[in-house]
Amino acid sequence: MNGNFAPPAPWSNVSLMRPATIFITGASSGIGRALALEYVRKGAHVAIAARRAPELARVASEARAIAQKGGQIRVFPLDVREPRAVFETVQRAERELGSLDCVIANAGAGSYQHISTMSWDDVERAIDINIRGAIATILAAVPIMLSQQRGQLVGVSSLAGRRGMPYSAMYSASKSALSTFLESIRIELAPAGVKVTDVQPGFVDTSMVLTLKGRVPTPWMCSPQKAAHIMVRRLERAPAVIAFPWPLDVWSSIGRFLPTFMYDRLARLAAL
Ligand SMILES: NC(=O)c1ccc[n+]([C@@H]2O[C@H](COP(=O)([O-])OP(=O)(O)OC[C@H]3O[C@@H](n4cnc5c(N)ncnc54)[C@H](OP(=O)(O)O)[C@@H]3O)[C@@H](O)[C@H]2O)c1
Repeated sequence: MNGNFAPPAPWSNVSLMRPATIFITGASSGIGRALALEYVRKGAHVAIAARRAPELARVASEARAIAQKGGQIRVFPLDVREPRAVFETVQRAERELGSLDCVIANAGAGSYQHISTMSWDDVERAIDINIRGAIATILAAVPIMLSQQRGQLVGVSSLAGRRGMPYSAMYSASKSALSTFLESIRIELAPAGVKVTDVQPGFVDTSMVLTLKGRVPTPWMCSPQKAAHIMVRRLERAPAVIAFPWPLDVWSSIGRFLPTFMYDRLARLAAL
């Protein structure tokens, strides 16, 4: 190990001694909801956050019905566009859970639109939720992780952040920004024993892809449950990046290195 810090105990092993403690934003629906249910089923103590309190309460009661091995869930209504509220909520979650082994900045918003129809509100929404909201969530957890000298920070970006996707300019740009941010802090925090993981899903069948369906191909789309299962399993090893499904990961990796004229042609074909 580099640096003066003690080697990190992988937080997955923490669960052998006490339940793992996990904070998830955007857990009122889709991937976040499925993640919360999967973690509670495994016996973790989970804090879930999002704006829609009734939806969060529904997720909590579903979770309590399936909880095993002492799994617990707590609800924290939160708008990630309010940085002060994000900081307070992450701190409160840490106090109530007793620690934070893993913080997952999953809340996000997408849109599918031509640049000619894009308003300034659309631009601000993507920046405020996908970039500022995710970064506030991570930043609020950094001092907690550093004082523990272990833990895992997770951001949910997207394969769409690897190159500019037509009709998704703000979504692609915001997810690309989040991935770059996560990469930088991964290197900075490694000596302190804090792991950072960038999750890059392909198409997941949630309310977010409703605007895409029938307008663009959504190859290898998986259910939110499958996405959560993949994430929970792979997060245990705290890799730098988790990208799925693998065929889309491979194609988008190839796409990254295509010359511009080829990428433009293929992307235009896929979008029309
Ligand atoms: N579905 C896909 O194909 C796909 C692919 C790649 C990446 N992703 C990413 O996966 C993450 C989860 O998306 P999803 O597919 O599960 O979509 P979803 O079902 O629409 O979930 C989005 C979640 O984000 C929350 N959220 C939105 N704005 C928020 C705000 N201002 N403050 C707090 N929470 C907020 C929503 O809760 P409230 O409305 O209750 O606040 C909801 O729980 C997103 O970051 C998305 O970009 C999705």
